[in-house]
Amino acid sequence: MVFSIILAVVIVVLIFNFLRLSKKNTTNPAEIFNNLKSDLLSSIRKSKELRTKDKNLFNFARQFFYSLSIIFLALMAVSGFLLPLFWQTMDGILLFIHLFVAPFFVVSVVVAIALFAYRMQFNAADYAYLSAQRTARKQKSIFWKKIYFWLFIIAIIFNLGSMLLAMYPLLGTSGQNWLLNMHRYSALVLLILTVNYLTLKYTLKSNR
Ligand code: HEM
Repeated sequence: MVFSIILAVVIVVLIFNFLRLSKKNTTNPAEIFNNLKSDLLSSIRKSKELRTKDKNLFNFARQFFYSLSIIFLALMAVSGFLLPLFWQTMDGILLFIHLFVAPFFVVSVVVAIALFAYRMQFNAADYAYLSAQRTARKQKSIFWKKIYFWLFIIAIIFNLGSMLLAMYPLLGTSGQNWLLNMHRYSALVLLILTVNYLTLKYTLKSNR
């Protein structure tokens, strides 16, 4: 299966890139995983405190749905990619997990996107950053995060749209196969974007 080969190559490249960047920035891989885990879990645990202490509900909600989306995306990716990696199609318990987590993933990712969209608009600051890049490459900016954000949205539209369409007998058998392939490859793009984003975020300490 061509998809299995491409998937294996992508996973090797992502791991290689992760190790290369963590070595270059002298960040220990175990430390990166610990930081990621505590970042994701802290915003979820904070939900108890929120009712009494935290006044900034909007920031909290943004972080909360971002963390949930990453956790659900990881479950969707593991259940979706594990069997194709070994030349098989998704089946049994993994198919069950994939379809069980899907609605939770969709709700959390849509809410997270809505809460982040305003902050991720391109504006004059990005133009200034791009111009400054050529001369002084030091200015702190979330420009690259914006690029990841909008590419992620394009990939998610293809990923969710293809599977929703495939569930209706609108395009015939060959059309459904075509949509399944679109689902697979857009899922691969989602994996690449998310892993690269998290790798950059946690290996380059200045971006944390
Ligand atoms: C609303 C969200 C989603 C739904 C309802 C959904 C549903 C499905 C279904 C029903 C299949 C099996 C198709 C078949 O074999 O006939 C499938 C396959 C697949 N899904 Fe999803 N999915 C969703 C999101 C995702 C996400 C977010 C990813 C990964 C990032 C993903 C990765 C995959 C992959 C790689 C396959 C192909 C597995 C194979 O080749 O056997 N899916 N999905």
